Amino acid sequence: MNGKVMVVGSANVDLAVDVPRVPKAGETVLGARLRRSPGGKGANQAVAAAFACGADTTFVGALGEDEGADLLLVSLGGAGVRTDLVERAEAPTGTAFITVSPDGENAIVVAPGANDHVVIGPAQAARIAEADVVLAQLEIPLDVVAAAAAAREKNARMILNAAPSRELPESLWAVLDILVVNEHEAADLAGEPEKLLERVPAVVVTLGGEGCVILRRDQEPLRIPGFPVDVVDTTGAGDTFCGVLAAALAQGEDLPAAAIRASVAGALAVTRPGAQAAVPSQDEVAGKTP
Ligand code: RIB
Repeated sequence: MNGKVMVVGSANVDLAVDVPRVPKAGETVLGARLRRSPGGKGANQAVAAAFACGADTTFVGALGEDEGADLLLVSLGGAGVRTDLVERAEAPTGTAFITVSPDGENAIVVAPGANDHVVIGPAQAARIAEADVVLAQLEIPLDVVAAAAAAREKNARMILNAAPSRELPESLWAVLDILVVNEHEAADLAGEPEKLLERVPAVVVTLGGEGCVILRRDQEPLRIPGFPVDVVDTTGAGDTFCGVLAAALAQGEDLPAAAIRASVAGALAVTRPGAQAAVPSQDEVAGKTP
């Protein structure tokens, strides 16, 4: 079963530089060579769903009329993602400014550009209505996330990766089936991760190299351990996790099995630089999945 995944979200050109440390306010730090590569949480997650999991994946996003857009379309298309519903906006393609520290940790600032112009029109809504899973993040306007959720069929699952975290309206909480957050995002949204269950039936809290925890109403928390790897660059690893989680669910796996596959893919992604460029293949993921 291929599983149909709709990823609604951002696409960015990532400008990344390795730095000895993240600069403090007012400080200048000399970094190494600049890397320019395809990124954006939405586009990264779409690439992961298609390339690392083989799901029938459509990306709904917005790009400018510029060379950055070409970079993203080549990467998405190369990974097997459908891009026919991507809109072109009168704004530059989103850009992310990324520092990567020696321990592989990143710090990111995003200039949204075209990402503020993502739309759910009739064509996007019609394709969303065919999806098994709809996956969104928070680098696009909240009303677009809500429109995507509203366009899905009743039995399709709505997953929100609340990154970067921001306050959500009650109407959006009400339509979520699964929330994926890291520990910082969970704390921003609710203080205690368990409190999130008052608002959404299932929560997956990612713990970086330590794996993740699945929280579900009326069930004990389930811990999925991490996989030891050499960390090169954590940029986009959380996106690989989310994309594979959504794809595995669309392919009929249950939440624990999907989270194991997602953890393997996320771990492999940190062993390489970049976001979309670091997404592992289906074979690599299968080879490491217990
Ligand atoms: O999650 C990593 C992504 O965040 C980067 O690719 C960057 O574009 C920002 O969206």
